[in-house]
Amino acid sequence: MKGQQLRKTIKRYIQMNINKIHNMKKSTCIFLLATIFSANNLVAQQKRATAASDKKMNAFVTNLMSKMTLDEKIGQLNLPAVGFDVTGPILSEGVDEKIEKGLVGGVFNTFTPQAVRKLQELAITKSRLKIPLLFGYDVIHGHKTIMPIPLGLSASWDLSLIEKSARIAAREASADGLNWTFSPMVDIARDPRWGRIAESSGEDPYLGSLIGAAMVRGYQTNDLANKDAILACVKHFALYGAAEAGRDYNTTDMSLIKMYNEYLPPYKAAIDAGAETVMASFNDINGTPATANKWLLTDLLRNQWGFKGFVVSDYTGINELTAHGLGDLKTVSAKSLEAGTDMDMVGEGFLTTLKQSLQEKKITQAVIDLACRRILESKYKLGLFANPYKYIDEERAKTEILSQKNRSDAKMIAEASMVLLKNNNQLLPLKKNAKIALIGPLADNKRDMIGNWSAAGDWKLAISVLEGLKNAAPDMDITYAKGANLVDDPAILKQINANGAEIVADEKSPEKLISDAVSAAKKADIAVVVLGESAIMGGEATSRTNLDLLPNQKELLKALAATGKPIVLVLMNSRPLTLEWEDANIPSILETWFSGTEAGNAIADVLVGNYNPAGKLTATFPRNVGQIPLYYNHKSTGRPYDGVSNEKFKSRYIDSSNDPLYPFGYGLSYTSFEISPVKLNRNTMTSAQTIQATVEVKNTGGYDGEEVVQFYIQDIYGSVTRPVKELKGFQKVFLKKGESKSVTFTINNSMLKFYNSDLKFASEPGDFNVFIGANSRDTKSSGFSLTK
Ligand code: NOJ
Repeated sequence: MKGQQLRKTIKRYIQMNINKIHNMKKSTCIFLLATIFSANNLVAQQKRATAASDKKMNAFVTNLMSKMTLDEKIGQLNLPAVGFDVTGPILSEGVDEKIEKGLVGGVFNTFTPQAVRKLQELAITKSRLKIPLLFGYDVIHGHKTIMPIPLGLSASWDLSLIEKSARIAAREASADGLNWTFSPMVDIARDPRWGRIAESSGEDPYLGSLIGAAMVRGYQTNDLANKDAILACVKHFALYGAAEAGRDYNTTDMSLIKMYNEYLPPYKAAIDAGAETVMASFNDINGTPATANKWLLTDLLRNQWGFKGFVVSDYTGINELTAHGLGDLKTVSAKSLEAGTDMDMVGEGFLTTLKQSLQEKKITQAVIDLACRRILESKYKLGLFANPYKYIDEERAKTEILSQKNRSDAKMIAEASMVLLKNNNQLLPLKKNAKIALIGPLADNKRDMIGNWSAAGDWKLAISVLEGLKNAAPDMDITYAKGANLVDDPAILKQINANGAEIVADEKSPEKLISDAVSAAKKADIAVVVLGESAIMGGEATSRTNLDLLPNQKELLKALAATGKPIVLVLMNSRPLTLEWEDANIPSILETWFSGTEAGNAIADVLVGNYNPAGKLTATFPRNVGQIPLYYNHKSTGRPYDGVSNEKFKSRYIDSSNDPLYPFGYGLSYTSFEISPVKLNRNTMTSAQTIQATVEVKNTGGYDGEEVVQFYIQDIYGSVTRPVKELKGFQKVFLKKGESKSVTFTINNSMLKFYNSDLKFASEPGDFNVFIGANSRDTKSSGFSLTK
């Protein structure tokens, strides 16, 4: 164990056992002291080693830069897109020639050992200084073995599985020539209209922080020099998820106190975990777009947070500052560099204007040098100067990519992401001898299984639900009927087909599709209906104003419900949908997101009960679009509504409940759990003390299963208003049927801290509520006080 980690473990141990220290055996005390001593020694040793290797790196980079021309330095700041994918509005040209001239620092959207070798060879054999290139790509939820979309992944509440998913992605990507992923996206997302909520970990800063850090560890490992480590890129810095009206690329405007308490923590956590690169977001932040925002990229990111890597713009993010109204390309390029953007993705504003800005003394040589140095340092840390072909290994690509092991891990991860929203009368799991009508445009579908932003994933390798059911229950009697086109809505169809969805209407009329499905349902014992969005309706540039199931699918579902047959609704979607009708009329609902290459096998295992679902929502499901943004950790208002009375002057709607349909943290299991009242081992603490909050969790149902026990705190009175509750911890516990376990959370001073109106991070003495439960709504509570 590394020194820092060892120190953290000891600190945690001492915090948990602080109450017992006076009773501790002398030998245990001596052992603890000795371990602390050796951890301190290790940390000191590591510091010396880091200082020595930093010195070596600095000398190398200084020497290299002393040979570079101004053009070559500016060239390092250039990141063109070339290759297989189009992820923005324009494409780069003349890239090979620019590489030969030393005018490219890295490229993205190119992979495979062969394609990467071709470009790397140009840099190494043709360019004057032989500086290796970076190869970036959007490896978002897997490279070729695709795992659930990030919103689904986060619903596993399983940090080690999440880290594992990033590790699988990095191993495959690094074997395919890549050394940089544009992930993790850690934007807090509280608006399901925004299509990119799919790429997020939902609405909570605490959970989002843990997930961001786990992803960084998974991608980068503990040493970038490892052969299967790739650079992580924390994006989109910052506040991209708070786009007004949920419309992509839109403005954000937010108080500093909200930023610091609610939106910035996941970026900070990912950077603290060692992320080597950061991507500036497209959006305006309180008047200055992120790409040109010096306060954000220099004062906060580097000076306050100590970030040492480099910042890349988003796709043409610098050029877009002209449309934002900040000036012409020369002006905005200079502003972006000055602000702290080091690398220009696709736009070539740096390449074409920085030299002139320098001549006109609009920028200094020092800022160009600094940006160039940062990029060269990252290449050095990856070991690219030692071996520019480090990531090009055809043999490794053959064994690593889409291996049986990766696929079986992907299935396990997919299962963990699924959330059981409703299960009346234990309709699920399906009885293996039941006669099933499998219905819906996503039931016998491979194309959509891998979801949006599925990198190099090949949908043809994905498993459909129909295939999955045949694998999981070969003897099951299944009749399939499509029931509806995936999308009939002309406006949506026009937009998504123009962007590659290739959805064609079935030869059968919509009426005939429905009547065939209804007769299949009538002949069966149960209808399993697989509905949702097209994968391409989620991710970048897919904002929606209506979150109901698409009208043609809803018509199908209503016709099926009218048969009186029991229905299991299996959902696939990139965002929370509005499902009030479905919740009221359909007995069983399973949310499966888009769960990747192994989707069908994972869904089938859940449906037949080979796996007992344990996922929990990380983004609130609203009842209707009018409630958005709706999130559990909101403020109280001065006129909170109790949800029952008809009083007029309360913070409420006259046409809708305030409450979500499914709250943050919500998800059922095939078994049931009982959580006891919360017991605190004391009711007051000073800032140096801790309190233990304990509950007994009992599996009271008929299956073994897992429960995510969630722990929330409310700071009742503060110098500023505080959320009604905030997640501060959780434990995923496995319980055999009938088994009980006690689950303890340790309350310490640091989890009571928040940024006050002076942006000082401190706790305030006073009263607190503790809530423990199976989701953010259904909790048991207790209280304690923090004294001076
Ligand atoms: C634009 C997206 O906003 C960003 O997330 C992505 O990494 C880049 N395009 C590159 O494809």
